[in-house]
Amino acid sequence: MAYAAFRSIGAYTPSKILSNSELSQMVDTSDEWITKRTGIKERRIAADDEFTSDMGAKAAQKAIDRSGIDKSEIDMVVCATISPDYFCMPSTATIISTKLGLGNVTAFDISAACTGFVYVLSIAKAFIESGMKKNVLIIGAEKLSAITDYSDRGTCILFGDGAGAAIISATDNKEEAIIDVHTGADGQFADLLMTPNGGSGSMHDSLDQEAASCFMQMKGNETFKVAVKTLTKDVVDILNDNGIEASDIKHFVPHQANLRIIKAVGDALKLDDKQVVITVEKYGNTSGASIPMAINDIYENKTLKAGELMLLDAFGGGLTWGSALVPFSPLKK
Ligand code: ACO
Repeated sequence: MAYAAFRSIGAYTPSKILSNSELSQMVDTSDEWITKRTGIKERRIAADDEFTSDMGAKAAQKAIDRSGIDKSEIDMVVCATISPDYFCMPSTATIISTKLGLGNVTAFDISAACTGFVYVLSIAKAFIESGMKKNVLIIGAEKLSAITDYSDRGTCILFGDGAGAAIISATDNKEEAIIDVHTGADGQFADLLMTPNGGSGSMHDSLDQEAASCFMQMKGNETFKVAVKTLTKDVVDILNDNGIEASDIKHFVPHQANLRIIKAVGDALKLDDKQVVITVEKYGNTSGASIPMAINDIYENKTLKAGELMLLDAFGGGLTWGSALVPFSPLKK
């Protein structure tokens, strides 16, 4: 049986920074409130002519360059995004494939909001273990600024733009394999976080442009409570299912939505601060891109080493959630 190994990571962050004090000029908020309630100090914003696929392709190129795998060997591309270049088609994954010159590959997007990267990881693992694919490029890429209402202080303070990508490859060596991925969803909470307008459920009801906009709306406090409860249970379950102690985790890489959620889950696992990867202060919430961007940070600052075990967890619109136990297994040592 083939196993799936996490070979490499890459990320891209736009250069423009939007600070809390700049947001305070736009809506009734303050640096103090945002910092205390979320941990966010600033977020990156893509240029007007910079699309989700541009950021995804740049992150992916880095992941390919670092993987030791030739791009001609990549046989599938899956992109997690809720801010695709085009609303229905073509998929952002197909556009990224062409920007990278990948030729004939299987390519598609998935929509699982902030849990997107854990979902694409599970898809790559399943395709590789079944023998259908050998080298899968997975991407989380978001231009959330395009679907954010900058007059809504409940959401605009949270979100930012960016992309991350990884190469997942077949291996015979179980030691370097992804151990487990959990994914879950519960549509009864669909209304907690949604873009209510513009889809087949609403577009024919609204004729004016404003009503047809696709901005995110969120019941933040209710989402917060479900997030803490669900994530805490999910990370405990995945550790128990695999007989792994929290102390065996070298890097806990949670979705970067809110420092208080990250701390609550970290405390439930009794994790040391040194085990917890935090980037929310500089990137905000980049939805499906946040976990690979955070992994890229610890890779680039040389904290992440070959063979070290990562625990990923995420929670987002849907509602969706997931977790994964992933050793970092680069080919190039
Ligand atoms: N500045 C100042 N005051 C604010 C702001 C703001 N930006 N936003 C809300 N407030 C006010 C509210 O109006 C409220 O005032 P009131 O007490 O007078 O009514 C008060 O602050 C408290 O509001 P809450 O919504 O209860 O604040 P909370 O502590 O819950 O923080 C937040 C809000 C940051 C949104 C938090 O609930 C959160 O992080 N939620 C989870 C987000 C998340 O994980 N989403 C899932 C992933 S995202 C995705 O999938 C795309």
